[in-house]
Amino acid sequence: MSLDSDVTDPTDSDTDRPMSSGDIAALYDDLADQYDRWDWANRLFSGPLRRRAFGDASGRVLDVACGTGTNFRYLPPTAQLVGVDVSADMVAAARAELAELRRGGTVYRMDAQDLEFPDDSFDTVISALSTCTFPDPVAALSELARVCRPDGRVLLLEHGRSDAELVGRFQDWRADAHYEQHACRWTQDPLDHFSGTDLTVVESETFALGMVSVIEARPVSSRR
Ligand SMILES: C[S@@+](CC[C@H](N)C(=O)[O-])C[C@H]1O[C@@H](n2cnc3c(N)ncnc32)[C@H](O)[C@@H]1O
Repeated sequence: MSLDSDVTDPTDSDTDRPMSSGDIAALYDDLADQYDRWDWANRLFSGPLRRRAFGDASGRVLDVACGTGTNFRYLPPTAQLVGVDVSADMVAAARAELAELRRGGTVYRMDAQDLEFPDDSFDTVISALSTCTFPDPVAALSELARVCRPDGRVLLLEHGRSDAELVGRFQDWRADAHYEQHACRWTQDPLDHFSGTDLTVVESETFALGMVSVIEARPVSSRR
């Protein structure tokens, strides 16, 4: 290996050097309590959008990067729920949420970029506020496509840089600090990650000054 490869370009930002899945798991282990404690406040703002994004999820449903299980209460009671997250402490919180909601389901510790499910396992694959944290969002979305049935749907609630210039500039200014604290690239455009995957976006709506997107995608019919 050339020594040059160890030299860091001072113009690189932290978000150009993504944390590994292991780093992110450790970070979210530390954040799990805080996320759990503030879940009510999160739901106050994001609940209506979660309901809009996931309220008609059907059949066997996979929630990828489920965190503390914030999405679970917005899914129809008939959905057969499986959640996955890379952080063991988030998985524990999500299992507790399932118990509190008294609904069936299973939560596993798993990396979104390497899902341990066979092809075409789920009718609906959902994920919220996650592509911003995946080290390789294209790899993760490709996995979401792979485990979704060819006639199934991938439903996402995502966030990114605001259309409102002042807010967007604030996000630019804080981008590295925010990434260090939450492993979150909050200046991303979530739609940028779909090219190169087996997913096609059929609908995308934005809310909250363009910062939040509700996205419906489907596996492309020519895949595999
Ligand atoms: C901002 S939180 C969002 C949690 C939840 N989806 C929500 O809407 O509240 C991001 C979550 O993504 C998880 N995560 C990050 N990278 C992951 C990966 N490669 N595989 C699975 N989960 C991952 C983190 O552990 C964390 O729980």
